[in-house]
Amino acid sequence: MGENMIVPVPESWAGQGAVDAATYAADHARSIADSDGFWRDQIGRLDWVKTPTRMDESDFSESNFQIRWFADGRINVSANCLDRHLAERGDATAIIWEPDDPTAAPRHISYRALHAEVCRFANVLKAAGAHRGSRVTLYLPMIPEAAVAMLACARIGAIHSIVFGGFSPDALAGRIQDCDSTIVVTADEGRRGGKRVPLKANVDAALPHCPSIETVIVVPATGADVPMRAGRDLRYDAAIAAASPDCPPEAMDSEDPLFLLYTSGSTGKPKGVVHSSGGYLLWAAMTHQLCFDYRPGEVFWCAADVGWVTGHSYIVYGPLANGATTLMYEGVPNWPSAARIWQVVERHRVATLFTAPTVLRSLMKEGDDLVLSTDRSSLRLLGSVGEPINPEAWRWYHAVPGEGRCPIIDMWWQTETGAGMIAPLPGATPLKPGSATFPLPGVEPRLLDGEGAVLEGAADGNLVIARSWPGQMRTVWNDHDRFFQTYFTTFPGYYTTGDGARRDADGYWWITGRVDDVINVSGHRMGTAEVESALVLHPKVAEAAVVGMPHELKGQGIYAYVTLNAGDEADEALRRELVQWVRREIGPIATPDAVQFAPGLPKTRSGKIMRRILRKIAEGEIGALGDISTLADPAVVDDLVANRVMA
Ligand code: WT7
Repeated sequence: MGENMIVPVPESWAGQGAVDAATYAADHARSIADSDGFWRDQIGRLDWVKTPTRMDESDFSESNFQIRWFADGRINVSANCLDRHLAERGDATAIIWEPDDPTAAPRHISYRALHAEVCRFANVLKAAGAHRGSRVTLYLPMIPEAAVAMLACARIGAIHSIVFGGFSPDALAGRIQDCDSTIVVTADEGRRGGKRVPLKANVDAALPHCPSIETVIVVPATGADVPMRAGRDLRYDAAIAAASPDCPPEAMDSEDPLFLLYTSGSTGKPKGVVHSSGGYLLWAAMTHQLCFDYRPGEVFWCAADVGWVTGHSYIVYGPLANGATTLMYEGVPNWPSAARIWQVVERHRVATLFTAPTVLRSLMKEGDDLVLSTDRSSLRLLGSVGEPINPEAWRWYHAVPGEGRCPIIDMWWQTETGAGMIAPLPGATPLKPGSATFPLPGVEPRLLDGEGAVLEGAADGNLVIARSWPGQMRTVWNDHDRFFQTYFTTFPGYYTTGDGARRDADGYWWITGRVDDVINVSGHRMGTAEVESALVLHPKVAEAAVVGMPHELKGQGIYAYVTLNAGDEADEALRRELVQWVRREIGPIATPDAVQFAPGLPKTRSGKIMRRILRKIAEGEIGALGDISTLADPAVVDDLVANRVMA
């Protein structure tokens, strides 16, 4: 099983995809051998104000380090996502909005209506002082106004920074301070799974620490009565009504930043990943078209949140650049029941569903009846993203929701890569359950051993990318040196992904998971250092070390080892308090699954915590702790093993 099991291109797809196997192979080969020519052909996917004549000018070497594409091109992203579709499909639906409450009415927003609203809101932003290059923080629920705000920023050249609505006031404040944004766009409240999220209240709690903010724009999403501060807070609806629907798009340089998005790394605070205008949009549009074989009129549903990169690229920018109908869902996949996701598919005749393995695992355990009670005949394709998909979930997705006729597009990528990197193309790629299959055109992955030697053939190693691609992040906001140090020094000359991978004898790529101190909780990325910093802020905590642990539904869970200050008592109440503490400091996605009180942590004589040992204990592999002789006090290990917490 596993590596040897091949799921051929289904009958219904043979000859149907935009690209067949031979074309894919030829395109990929050309994208490497004649990159310049390949990209000269691809840039026609977009409407440029000035068509670029320069293609890839990137260099991963220290002496000449830069990531640069299409540098003499000029473009406006919102014009590509809106204006250019008006003549042909102005009345076609751009966004279908499915509300959290299944009894509430969905909304259908045409390209023309979206264009008008974006222009109005762009004028509102301008009046609030936003301009080319200024930063606007978006802290919004999954409502159409989120897409409006993104595109309005793009229209005037302001850089948006979306903060996921599940993050705490502290996390929001940190992300505002880092980029000195001057405007926050939020909602009175968000709705998720029948619950309310107090977004405006969170903004009010964050802002005393954010002197750069001058204006807060509040979308009335639930109609809750929230306090408005005179001179600072504006109502979205009133502002829109008073604004002109006429706002010419700003001609941006291709390399001008489109957005920044904070993501966790192995060390330090989350970093602001900066994406470009031209290169990013081309990559989002190209991968959306190739991997999902989008056909006019179809409904495309990426069931992510716009707070994550998946939502940026596959709810908003990729689909809208391609003139697609994109479905935006306000709620969660399993509310009011585990049938909801399939009911939404049925209600809106969804052709492509793109979701995460963690969602599939949680739905799978509710049994097949809930799926079978719905009509999924509209489905043509199924996508998976965010973490490795276990073959069991893959087979279920393929057989039950997909009725054995929908290819599974398991797409590997990262916030840093902008959009998909390794993924099958429907109609072209025979699948293997659990493998992301082959690199997309333009992507040149390599496997390196720990010393940086290139591994050929079937092998296991560190996944690196050997050349730039248009959607590659351009820098870390305000810290270009950190960008270079983080991604280009471990293996000089390559982009280091932080993932491990295996290439099998047939050349298929299998992502094995992070090789650094980043953990993947339900497809969301969490830096262990961030959870540790939150824990040590508690007055009773002397030291904390956080590692990932296997978790049946989440993929990985968060396991925290905590050493208390002398005199402080470890008990169940404190354990619960620490869990709440982390939720409050960062947000519910950082909730520790296990907290183990430890009198001491395993350290080398130079004081470095040996995380390898902590990981093994959390995984329950206590028989395979490896060499512990270099520990300053090997006895601490016995205590850690004896008091291991079962989550
Ligand atoms: C990390 C990136 C990709 C957008 C959402 C997450 C893991 C992502 C896959 C996949 C195996 C995957 C990797 C990667 N990952 N997709 N199809 N198979 N692993 O973006 O938060 O930047 O996380 O997610 O470990 O490094 P992100």
